[in-house]
Amino acid sequence: MNSPDAANLAALQQSDRAHHLHPFTDFKALGEAGTRVIVRGEGIYVYDQDGKRLLDGMAGLWNVNVGYGRRELIDAATDQLQQLAYYNSFFQCTTPPAIALAERLAEISGFSHVFFAGSGSEANDTQLRLARRYWQLVGKPEKQVVISRINAYHGSTLAAASLGGMQDMHKQGGLPIPGIEHVDQPYYFEADTNETPADFGVRIAGQLQSRIEELGAENVAAFIGEPVQGAGGVIIPPETYWPEVQRICQAHDVLLIADEVITGFGRLGEWFAFQRLDFEPDLVTFAKGVTSGYIPLGGVLVGERVSSVLTTNGGEFAHGYTHSGHPVACAVALANIDVIDRDGLLAHVRDDIEPYLGALWAELGERHALVGEARLLGLMGAIELVEKGRVRFDKDLKMGERCRDLAIDHGLVMRAVGDTLIIAPPLVITRSEVDELVGIADRVLTEVAFEL
Ligand SMILES: Cc1ncc(COP(=O)(O)O)c(C=O)c1O
Repeated sequence: MNSPDAANLAALQQSDRAHHLHPFTDFKALGEAGTRVIVRGEGIYVYDQDGKRLLDGMAGLWNVNVGYGRRELIDAATDQLQQLAYYNSFFQCTTPPAIALAERLAEISGFSHVFFAGSGSEANDTQLRLARRYWQLVGKPEKQVVISRINAYHGSTLAAASLGGMQDMHKQGGLPIPGIEHVDQPYYFEADTNETPADFGVRIAGQLQSRIEELGAENVAAFIGEPVQGAGGVIIPPETYWPEVQRICQAHDVLLIADEVITGFGRLGEWFAFQRLDFEPDLVTFAKGVTSGYIPLGGVLVGERVSSVLTTNGGEFAHGYTHSGHPVACAVALANIDVIDRDGLLAHVRDDIEPYLGALWAELGERHALVGEARLLGLMGAIELVEKGRVRFDKDLKMGERCRDLAIDHGLVMRAVGDTLIIAPPLVITRSEVDELVGIADRVLTEVAFEL
């Protein structure tokens, strides 16, 4: 569809208001404000109804890793749609793209098996089912509890939102469901402590140990965490955190689940974050970047420990989705992984863009008094807005939203989590595009400081 003219735009907005309930939205407020209609994407840019170009500093929703308009992914979908638009993987059936993708995922992750789902939320439901099934099969069915973290985001289904630690989601849904516990997140900036980051990381991981001991290790199935918390505000853990979590899980015979829905497929300059952050999960959740968002797909990578039990002990795993292993989604994922590989995007992120953007990002922090911290790992960055030092602004000032809205006016999509501004641009971003991104962020901070 081409860019609509003004009358057409008003009609689209009216129709949207009349029929479309948007995710995570105050429907009344949106009805009054009206929606922005995005009509086209190219590289790292999207274009709205007025032809306004926006640098997509969030890669869609952290998913458009290879950028918009990639011919290889479009062709893969078209070819597969013509060949076989759908068949299921129930009843002893499968399709060539599902087979090929499972093999490719095993190559890049080192995990022997994969269970496909349609989204990150579904995949985390699968995690809960798989972890409990594993313990049943090894004769410890009482190991049921999964421990997660406050402020984690694991998706929006009942199980995924329960695994998540977002209070507002819990309040609306009568959540969490039974058998889910939450411990603190490793949020060094917010903790405002005199400890070194290394000591802080070990201490916060230690909460997992205490909780396991309170509950009794014989009742605990798994721990789940995002290697870097995304929706919670790009919370980058100290280097000591994940190795300590792994040590605790091993010591108490608890499965370790990494939710790599955001961090998978190159965002931290490796295929998966665990390959960079020095730990070895038993199970990995993926979605988003597996297809760069061109088509929905998610799943669980299952390591040897769990897969060997699942595949040798008999009995049906009573769980699965119509779209598990969807052939078109799998074909697109294969093309996407090929692009990341062939274009050297992991090295591009790790060796070029992360250091380049990281230096400019840190400079922003030094130049602007209203930045309490500017942090970045891979292509996940955050800026903490503060009145001074670590003192936050009055919430009513809505500083995060003000900066976000101004950034959009100036042509940059950033996101605001409270007063934390976050970015996660497509992996294909170039140095000159980074200059543009940081230039707009700089202008926004200057203008907001001036208004104050
Ligand atoms: C870490 C993490 N897990 C799970 C999900 C849920 O994925 P989906 O929205 O595809 O269900 C998200 C979505 O943002 C996420 O960031």
